[in-house]
Amino acid sequence: MRFYTFFVLLVSDFFVLQIDASPLARRNHSKSPTKPGFKKVWYEEFTSKNGLATNWIYDTGTHYPGNDQVAQWGTWEIETYTTDPKNINITNGVLYITPHLEAQAYLNLKAFGEFPSNENIPTHAFRDAHYKGWPATGELDIMESVNGNRDASGMIHCGWYNNKSGGPCNEPNGKGGSVRGVGRGLWNTFGIEIDKTSSNWKSQKITWLFNGARKHSITGGQVNNSVAWKALVNKKFFILLNVAVGGSMPDGVAGAQTPNSKTLDGDSVGMAVDWVAVYQQN
Ligand SMILES: *[C@@H]1O[C@H](CO)[C@@H](O)[C@H](O)[C@H]1NC(C)=O
Ligand SMILES: *[C@@H]1O[C@H](CO)[C@@H](O)[C@H](O)[C@H]1NC(C)=O
Ligand SMILES: *[C@@H]1O[C@H](CO)[C@@H](O)[C@H](O)[C@H]1NC(C)=O
Repeated sequence: MRFYTFFVLLVSDFFVLQIDASPLARRNHSKSPTKPGFKKVWYEEFTSKNGLATNWIYDTGTHYPGNDQVAQWGTWEIETYTTDPKNINITNGVLYITPHLEAQAYLNLKAFGEFPSNENIPTHAFRDAHYKGWPATGELDIMESVNGNRDASGMIHCGWYNNKSGGPCNEPNGKGGSVRGVGRGLWNTFGIEIDKTSSNWKSQKITWLFNGARKHSITGGQVNNSVAWKALVNKKFFILLNVAVGGSMPDGVAGAQTPNSKTLDGDSVGMAVDWVAVYQQN
């Protein structure tokens, strides 16, 4: 009988190929809203300048820590994540993650994984060289947007991936959909809703929301594998906010190698996040 909602409020995301770069609309801190019938079980409003160090984990460099970690974050991205305030900082209650091109070849960004700090979650059992963690561990992409386009993709990753089969989540692409016409340089709300009101896993549903409206969804029946589905809806997750540069997703969408001569860096292509909240139905 659980019903969770994750919300992320943010603007322009990810590396941009030339088109439609807009300066981020400046905004001062606003609060994550209350929702009637729901308890706000966790939230982050970026009110403390030092909050990143205490509430979140920085993933730095070019791969997750530990042995057997695949280079370039497992997806051929070229950024190096840093903790430099130029790349990641909190200003007036807003988190800014901003890519900067350095030394000709690299954009120097910052990502960070996060989760409520009282929960013991294996944050880095994620993408190793042999796909031991991913995609079986489950991944819920609330919002991904590449190459400056106006699509916000919402996908799940689950099950297994090898050369014979993409598994129940059609890896490496995943399953899901996208929202079109997402304005850049504007404040938008992105969320997912995990609806477990049905005890039949095939009827349970993950729905993507954009500015409060339900846009697309996927059911357990569409995944058609109970182990893979339950890894998505029955376990704890950490929340990851990042701006990447290059990699298989933007390359695939562009049909060309990225970044390239059209790629921009700096404030016009950064990501700003005002709040993140997790709600649970009463
Ligand atoms: C924080 O990031 C914003 C957006 O990139 C930038 O304009 C500002 O100068 C940064 N602040 C610091 C202290 O680097
Ligand atoms: C898929 O096949 C390629 C080429 O045969 C091989 O290099 C790669 O390791 C295989 N990947 C997996 C996940 O088995
Ligand atoms: C769902 O999984 C069952 C059991 O593995 C299989 O028999 C069935 O063909 C699958 N349905 C679809 C639509 O793939």
